[in-house]
Amino acid sequence: TVYKDQQEAAEEIAQQIGTIIKLKQEKGENAVLGLATGATPVEVYARLVRMHKEEGLSFKNVITFNLDEYYPMQPDAKQSYVAFMDEQLFNHVDIDRKNIHIPDGTLAAEEIAGYCLSYEHKIEEVGGLDLQILGIGRTGHIGFNEPGSAPNSGTRLVTLDDLTRRDAARDFGGKENVPTKAITMGIGTIFKAKEIILMAWSKKKASIIKKAVEGEISGNVPATYLQLSDNVKFVLDEDAASEL
Ligand code: GLP
Repeated sequence: TVYKDQQEAAEEIAQQIGTIIKLKQEKGENAVLGLATGATPVEVYARLVRMHKEEGLSFKNVITFNLDEYYPMQPDAKQSYVAFMDEQLFNHVDIDRKNIHIPDGTLAAEEIAGYCLSYEHKIEEVGGLDLQILGIGRTGHIGFNEPGSAPNSGTRLVTLDDLTRRDAARDFGGKENVPTKAITMGIGTIFKAKEIILMAWSKKKASIIKKAVEGEISGNVPATYLQLSDNVKFVLDEDAASEL
């Protein structure tokens, strides 16, 4: 779906998330949301905060799993995805902190594999993701599944692509300060979500969106794997869709 601009698109996605939360509330069930970081979802989160404050949308029944976190990363560092999520969403709504899951960037190397398995199990234990929202990196990554990721990959430690680290350089005051690794949900983890929405705005994303939507399905552009799913929607603004 192509919207005139990011504002219209974000409004639509926030409404959709609000509807899932409310439908689940009516049934006395939890809404399980897969969340993303980066500049792309910021407007969606801002609208959800507004829906909480102005319309009384409650997050009491919401369980969240974030896609990824840099490794190593302290949760209180300003570049952490923990800090990002608190700032953009969690500090402003009534979510129960125990329902928030973000990959742990503080683990010792030998703890990571077990932790990643338990992350997958936790998602399954609460019934799986009702919705996963995604941005897209210029390498075609979703989460931090860089080129070379397998379609059935699970949550794991990955090495970041040079372009991804360059794109993150501003947040870290130079590429040399950007961690070389991250913990990310896998493509396989993302695929298990009942619904997936990939969002992209601006001309900067137009060429990778063309590849993701129209390109050959290949591990060289992990987002092309989304072409294999019937549960995926690409939500774009006119600029991001301009090369389609
Ligand atoms: C990071 C995140 C991705 C995100 C990408 C795009 O790499 N791990 O989940 O999609 O950035 O970022 P932005 O939305 O700022 O363009």
